[in-house]
Amino acid sequence: MLTEGLRAENLTVVYERVVALEDVSFSVSHGSMTAVVGPNGAGKSSLLKAAVGLVKPFRGRVTVLGDTVEKARGRIAYVPQREDVYWDYPLTVWDVVAMGRFKAVGYLKTVGKNDEKVLKALERTGLTSLMDRKISELSGGQQQRVFLARAIAQEAELYLLDEPLKGIDAESEDKLLILLHELKQEGKTIVMSTHDLSSTFELFENILLLRNRVVAFGPPEKVLTSENLSAAYGSDRVAMHFADVRRVAGWS
Ligand SMILES: Nc1ncnc2c1ncn2[C@@H]1O[C@H](COP(=O)(O)OP(=O)(O)O)[C@@H](O)[C@H]1O
Ligand SMILES: [Mg+2]
Repeated sequence: MLTEGLRAENLTVVYERVVALEDVSFSVSHGSMTAVVGPNGAGKSSLLKAAVGLVKPFRGRVTVLGDTVEKARGRIAYVPQREDVYWDYPLTVWDVVAMGRFKAVGYLKTVGKNDEKVLKALERTGLTSLMDRKISELSGGQQQRVFLARAIAQEAELYLLDEPLKGIDAESEDKLLILLHELKQEGKTIVMSTHDLSSTFELFENILLLRNRVVAFGPPEKVLTSENLSAAYGSDRVAMHFADVRRVAGWS
């Protein structure tokens, strides 16, 4: 039987008067890659935050690797949206990646400068030569990789990434997607949000199309239809743009 990576059952997230998510149910198997797609305000960030325990469900529940979020916390890595990070902290690349080791090494002990897991994570993300650089001095793509490196150093099993492709160049996007795909091949579960419709969806087993509720969930070619996209984005323009993507992917 396939192990479960992430499951939501009737997940409802409410802020004051805003219902960010309503009755969201889906499940992805461990070792798969899923994109959470939808317009601004669709609840993508809220879903990822609920999956790492940063927001509590108003109703329903989330389970991670068959466990509660609280119990699974150490196995979950969360890469926040870049807007949610305070970049002016005087931290270096190495400092941030080493945070991934705090749980294993202990907060009060220092992570050694030659910690192999940190060095390996830096190497895999191409950040070795930048390890002493301040995070505030990096490009968008590099900043994104720092947080991914922290997740790798943590040896997480579920990777939650909020809009990792936002504001990065095409080359960084390719590198990031290749790295995520490698992690998936190693048996990790990847769930990333994107408000962008690109042609990279073939990499994903599942697409969760959201507009505060689940518009559609399943394999990309089934989910990304004109009807579903119009329903999610409330506009035929997006659906038309995507017709081109479907043609390129050979889906229609
Ligand atoms: N901390 C918050 N307080 C109040 N409303 C919020 C908060 N965070 C998100 N929202 C609202 O919840 C809805 C979903 O937001 P979000 O999950 O950020 O969507 P997305 O990531 O898809 O843009 C939006 O209407 C947003 O304005
Ligand atoms: Mg968001």
